[in-house]
Amino acid sequence: MIDVLLGLQWGDEGKGKIVDYLAQQYDIIARFQGGPNAGHTLYLNGNKVVLHTIPSGVFQEHCLNLIGNGVVIDPVTLQNEISKILPLCPTLLQRLFISHRAHLILPTHRALDAASEASKGDDKIGSTLKGIGPAYMDKTGRNGLRVGDILSKNFKEKYNKLTQKHKQLLRQYDNAVAWEQWEEPFFAAVEQMRKLQVVNAEYWLDGHLRDGKKVLAEGAQGSMLDIDFGTYPFVTSSNTIAAGVCNGLGVAPSTIGEVYGITKAYCTRVGGGPFPTELLDETGEALRAAGSEFGATTGRPRRCGWIDLVALKYSVMLSGVTKLIVTKADVLDNFNPIKAAVAYIADGKETRELPYDLCDMEIVPVYESFAGWDMPISACTTYDELPQVFKDYCRFVENYLETKIAYVSNGTGRDQLLTIS
Ligand code: GDP
Ligand code: IMO
Ligand code: MG
Repeated sequence: MIDVLLGLQWGDEGKGKIVDYLAQQYDIIARFQGGPNAGHTLYLNGNKVVLHTIPSGVFQEHCLNLIGNGVVIDPVTLQNEISKILPLCPTLLQRLFISHRAHLILPTHRALDAASEASKGDDKIGSTLKGIGPAYMDKTGRNGLRVGDILSKNFKEKYNKLTQKHKQLLRQYDNAVAWEQWEEPFFAAVEQMRKLQVVNAEYWLDGHLRDGKKVLAEGAQGSMLDIDFGTYPFVTSSNTIAAGVCNGLGVAPSTIGEVYGITKAYCTRVGGGPFPTELLDETGEALRAAGSEFGATTGRPRRCGWIDLVALKYSVMLSGVTKLIVTKADVLDNFNPIKAAVAYIADGKETRELPYDLCDMEIVPVYESFAGWDMPISACTTYDELPQVFKDYCRFVENYLETKIAYVSNGTGRDQLLTIS
């Protein structure tokens, strides 16, 4: 059986921390989409580690970790990550597997990402500039290079052919960055990558599933950044919802078991695009400060606001979420009142459905208010110890989303996770 864990908002819900914890119960952790745009933070004996491409199960010594075909890989970022983690995790290379079919991010993809963003001016997506969009464009355009290609004798030829195309595209922009100096580190990283365990991942996974192994698919980004269902065009370039697991790993829908959906107790977004519950006032700034809301990949300040149950219900529906996980509950300790959006007034009409085009509408959220609490939630070690008002807030969220909360996270530490039985 494959369980799934994914973000229900605009990313950064705390997936890294939760996967690291849940990995104790799994044999394999598999990333199925996204790439180094992801920044998954976890703490290992008090040391902060941010993972971009490597699955968050690496610090559980018994766990195998797979980078699936749906992921786009920048060999340089992967190599840097490996070098950083190896001293903390000496068995990493024996437990890391990569699909032949995962696509490569080339230096010119990064240059194209930067040029495309710069040319958009005020309409820019706020991309992480890791080359994600251009790499997925080459994948669907049937031009891309895959991990399997680095093992072929004519890799350089294939590389030259594709970069030739990219050079032509780059000529159309007057602000193209100089990318040539990125080539040398790229080829050095490709050389290192040849030594990693590249596998026919769909057969590899199938074999493990037949042996009864437990797999957790680790999502990146969040449902509202999904290429089809997110706030298009302010989205990423992959399917971040549960449907992405099947084509991102090569597994059948019937293998999917639990779908864990993660939400912060409030909401954040980094980059451009609509965010109905965004707080552009001192409460938003206080949330950013209390939650240390700065991007794990780019360091950018994250936009902050109240939890948006309209958007969350949509995400829960799209992925068939069976269990909720609420993170960063402790961040709300000093807020009173705490609010949750339960409907939108969209162009003057009240709705509980996420409108097709949030970008071109005037959206005013309708809020339900909750009293704050006067004790530090991070000090709680069981669900029962949580303040009653927070439990009431959880009940309200569960009822609205028609889905039970399985865990509440109340701090950055691996064990700051309260189980709800
Ligand atoms: P991811 O991309 O979903 O893995 O999330 P990020 O790592 O980008 O951002 C989540 C941030 O919140 C990280 O800095 C985590 O260490 C932190 N975090 C996770 N859970 C909690 C929590 O329950 N409380 C607090 N205060 N911080 C948390
Ligand atoms: P994790 O896995 C938050 C956002 C970017 C931008 C948009 C497109 O850490 O939750 P891209 O680089 O994909 O072309 O950027 O998506 N974005 C994320 N925001 N968390 C992430 O990943 C993100 N990955 C991409 O900020 O708005
Ligand atoms: Mg992140």
